[in-house]
This record gives sequence, structure tokens and C-alpha cells, in this order.
Amino acid sequence: MAPNLLVLGGTTEATALCRRLADAGIAGTVSLAGRVERPRPQPLSQRVGGFGGAEGLADYLRAQKITHVVDATHPFAARMSANAVAGCAVAGVPLIALTRAPWQAGPGDDWRHVPDIAGAVAALSGAPARVFLAVGRQHLAAFAAAPQHHYLLRLVDPPTEQLPLPHHRVVVERGPFTEAGDLALMRAQGTELVVSKNSGGSGASAKLAAAGALGVPVIMIDRPALPARRETHEIATVLDWIGHHPADLGV
Ligand SMILES: NC(=O)c1ccc[n+]([C@@H]2O[C@H](COP(=O)([O-])OP(=O)(O)OC[C@H]3O[C@@H](n4cnc5c(N)ncnc54)[C@H](OP(=O)(O)O)[C@@H]3O)[C@@H](O)[C@H]2O)c1
Repeated sequence: MAPNLLVLGGTTEATALCRRLADAGIAGTVSLAGRVERPRPQPLSQRVGGFGGAEGLADYLRAQKITHVVDATHPFAARMSANAVAGCAVAGVPLIALTRAPWQAGPGDDWRHVPDIAGAVAALSGAPARVFLAVGRQHLAAFAAAPQHHYLLRLVDPPTEQLPLPHHRVVVERGPFTEAGDLALMRAQGTELVVSKNSGGSGASAKLAAAGALGVPVIMIDRPALPARRETHEIATVLDWIGHHPADLGV
């Protein structure tokens, strides 16, 4: 049976993987959650929207006769990744995760680790500061509990609703970002503190390099825990896995 992949996407790595799959003539579909108004065009056919939990995903895998699933979602998309493990187990479809290595602090970096968004909010209980809040739109509401700061927000889409933070400036921009660009932005904004998820990868690391260069501390939100699964950081390993995991062998 020829492979028929499902790639769980929404990341630069997923788009790069889909390009390599298309070039290799491997059939598949990329799935996006639908959070971004104008997603990047994808080299594979595309579907948008949730599956309806792990059971919904298992139903989809069976109905579409999916032979392999590659979870290339963002490391903080913990619900989708947990559903992928459970849904693939139910449907008997093999799964591999294509992930980014986490960022590591270098010499001279001042990173303060927190376990989650709530930890980052708690770390912002002090005096008003100019904060570059680089956590994505969906988590902004939590930071309403620390309203004393002036927040710099970089968003993919312009906000359509009133933001819950009384003092803020929005920059609408899509990565990848450069260290020179982020240095200029943070200097212009007088940034005193950066809040970042430990997303890994190269597209969003510029703010950390800029923070290091400016001596600005970083509140680093560590990654959520995920169920055990087969995982690689390399697209070549995914292609190899497809080749060595014939479509009719099951999990
Ligand atoms: N979290 C981040 O910081 C971040 C950053 C950049 C990009 N992204 C991308 O944005 C998407 C959503 O992230 P999230 O943090 O909201 O995820 P999440 O909390 O793990 O997912 C919540 C629900 O959204 C649906 N969903 C998520 N990713 C999907 C996908 N690729 N295809 C179809 N449905 C999906 C699933 O709904 P059902 O249960 O109904 O199936 C899932 O249970 C992901 O694709 C991720 O790769 C996330």
C-alpha cells in the first residue's frame, strides 16, 4: 500500500517537511488548527480545524485511510500532541513527532525558568516595567493579572478585539525574525524584560540573542510534559521512518 500521510502542522518545520514530502512524491494532507487568518500556502493538500479530540482523530485516520501520522505541531500544542498519541493508538496508525530542540541559555544570558504561563504571570508581580511579551495571542488574557506593565506584543494577525492589557503596543509581523531587527525593536521600545516560551528553532530565537546582547533578563516558560512517543528533530529521519515503516505494518 502506498503511504498516505497526515501531517499535524502549524509550524515552519511542518511546512518544510511538507515541501520535502511533495518533492519525494509522497501523498499526504497537512492539518492546521485554523488559528491564523492567512496561513502560509502548503505544498500538500490542506484541511483546517479540530478533529474532535483523540476519538475524532482516530475516526478521521480510519475514514481517510491514513497510513502514517507526523506530529509537527508546536511544542506548546500539548493537547493536539497528546490526542495524536491516543488517536493513533486507537486507530493502529504509526506516529512520529518532528520537534525542535529546546533553546539553551548561553554564557551571559539571564534566564529565569518558569513551568507554565501561570508561572510567568506570577514572575511579573513586581514594579512596572517595559515587557516584550512574546507568548502568542491566545495567552494574553492571563497577563491581565499583571496590568502595571507596558507590554510589547508581536502578533501574526492584527487584533480584532480589545486586548485585556491596559498599556500595550502591538507590532503585526510574522517570523522568521533577525537579531538586528529585534535589537532595534527592543532598543526603540526600551524593553527591560522578555517573556518567551521555550519554542526552540531558529525563526523566533532572535529576541533571545537580542536580550542577551542588551543584558535584558528573560522569563523562559519551559515546555509542557507530553506522553512518550517516537520523536526526531530531523526531516531526513521522518522520511527514513516512512521508508522503513511500510504502510500495511500498522503501529
Ligand atoms: N501553542 C503555540 O505556542 C503555537 C505556536 C505556533 C504555532 N502553533 C500551532 O497552532 C496550532 C494550535 O496550537 P494550540 O497551542 O492551540 O494547540 P493545542 O492547545 O494543543 O490544541 C487545541 C485543539 O486545537 C486543535 N488543533 C491543534 N492543532 C491542530 C492541528 N494542527 N490540526 C487540527 N486541529 C488542531 C485540536 O482540536 P480537537 O481536539 O478538536 O482535534 C486540539 O485539541 C497548532 O497546529 C500548533 O502547531 C502553536
